[in-house]
Amino acid sequence: MTDPFAHPPRDLVNLERYPLDDARRRAELAERCRRELAADSCVMLPGFVTEEATRRMVDEAMATLPRANRRDHHLTPYGPPRTDLPAGDPRTITSRNTMHAVAGDDIADSTGVQRLYRWDGLTRFIAEVVKADELHRVLDPIFNCNLSIIGEGESHHWHFDSNDFVVTLLLQRAEAGGDFEFAPYIRSETDENYSGVAEVLRGGKRGVKTVRVEPGTLVLFCGKYSLHRVSPVDGKQKRIIALYSYDKRPDKMFSDENALRVFNRRRVTRAAAD
Ligand SMILES: [Fe+2]
Repeated sequence: MTDPFAHPPRDLVNLERYPLDDARRRAELAERCRRELAADSCVMLPGFVTEEATRRMVDEAMATLPRANRRDHHLTPYGPPRTDLPAGDPRTITSRNTMHAVAGDDIADSTGVQRLYRWDGLTRFIAEVVKADELHRVLDPIFNCNLSIIGEGESHHWHFDSNDFVVTLLLQRAEAGGDFEFAPYIRSETDENYSGVAEVLRGGKRGVKTVRVEPGTLVLFCGKYSLHRVSPVDGKQKRIIALYSYDKRPDKMFSDENALRVFNRRRVTRAAAD
């Protein structure tokens, strides 16, 4: 039997603009993306998914909303606020994190979001961009492919990511607000730059980029050292993204604790710990 995910999903991806099915042109595009990521921590591929397919994905995403877990916390970029540090330290400054999160196994295999994620051509392209000899879609059926839906008055708080990079697809933007804001490489492996982070948390705009991402845009982002958030959404239209996760190991599973925290779900079985 042929693998349905081995062939490019021509009804989803604009392959004329992004020829991921052509090894030479894909390598050229990957090289450009790699340079942009190194310089800016973020690269955007607008119109990656066609307008029609993006609209279908929005309908599919909205159908999952009843199964979503609503999160609502106030957090610092490093987790819960510390009480043993002086006011002004960024580890004491919280922002609101509130959104609906949909687990991977609540998104049907037949949806565009899942079909795109499972296309080997996309995984291969991402591997070339991040220069990974080996890269796999995350095995964990809860965390591999998710939806994040942010409604009126909600926001994704200022934070750093724990993984090296994340791939997102913007399906629907808000009428106003819901912008992606990030401070490229504000910290490094050897310098936390707490004063610079605190300035951003207090509303400073120095070194902060704001982008209004268009629906259908594939975004590659390195958020481990780049502070980022989604600003509060205005208006009734929800901001919806799909998140695609990858790992160098073929058997990546997350902990039960993580599943509970993000999706309020318990596992039936546990193959491995995070
Ligand atoms: Fe993030």
